Amino acid sequence: MQNNIKYLNFDILESTNKWAKENAHTFSNTCIYAISSNIQTHGYGSNNRSWESSKGGMYLTICIPVYKQITNLNTLTIISALSAIDSFKKYNINIYIKWPNDLIINNKKIGGILSETIFSNSQQWLLIGIGINFNNNNITNLVRPLFQPSTVKLETDLHIDINKYIKHLVPIFINKYHIWINNSLKYFMNDFYDNNILKNKNIKISVDGKIYEGKFHSISDEGQLNIIQDGYLHKYINGDIVSIK
Ligand code: BTN
Repeated sequence: MQNNIKYLNFDILESTNKWAKENAHTFSNTCIYAISSNIQTHGYGSNNRSWESSKGGMYLTICIPVYKQITNLNTLTIISALSAIDSFKKYNINIYIKWPNDLIINNKKIGGILSETIFSNSQQWLLIGIGINFNNNNITNLVRPLFQPSTVKLETDLHIDINKYIKHLVPIFINKYHIWINNSLKYFMNDFYDNNILKNKNIKISVDGKIYEGKFHSISDEGQLNIIQDGYLHKYINGDIVSIK
């Protein structure tokens, strides 16, 4: 198990995930890389939506060499979200997860996660892209269903030093990642349910343009969303939650 973390910070990149993809061939598979940029010109999120990346936000990609076949990236996204939740405890800030990848404070979206995987020189890498609006002046064009965008500063009045935060978050994530590799997502389920914004809610989920409706039931071991529809359990691998009641 390798814990040699290399932190690389840039002033400006198109996207930290994109940079990681283009440069993975230079990485050593005995290291974990934490690539951050103060600004991104072409940050992207889930479903190829753009991710507004002005100065004041954190744009980070954690790159981990994979030694166990990873079949489902939802689990990684959930572990990353739980790491963000843990990391905010130090500042006495409660954040919540909206399955699968939204980070929420006061019913506002302050961050999101995009997990990807690539092969470079026959080595598989996990790329965990985490964007958090900390001290940005304004977030204007981050259009997402349901939760309006905001920043940690606006919601909590705290100004968090992003570089210090990155060095706090990355080891928390790596620790959870190793626990997950040796156990399963079950290990984290209590933490997940404590911070799950969908608990006891009726929800509508949009998948490929179709809307399905039901009551939140659980998250599977593979990170899928289970909802009860007409008395039956249905699993969703992905989708946008478009209503929560
Ligand atoms: C989402 O909510 O849709 C996920 C947003 C993920 C954004 C981060 S910012 C760092 C990394 N680089 C990118 O281009 N995207 C991810």
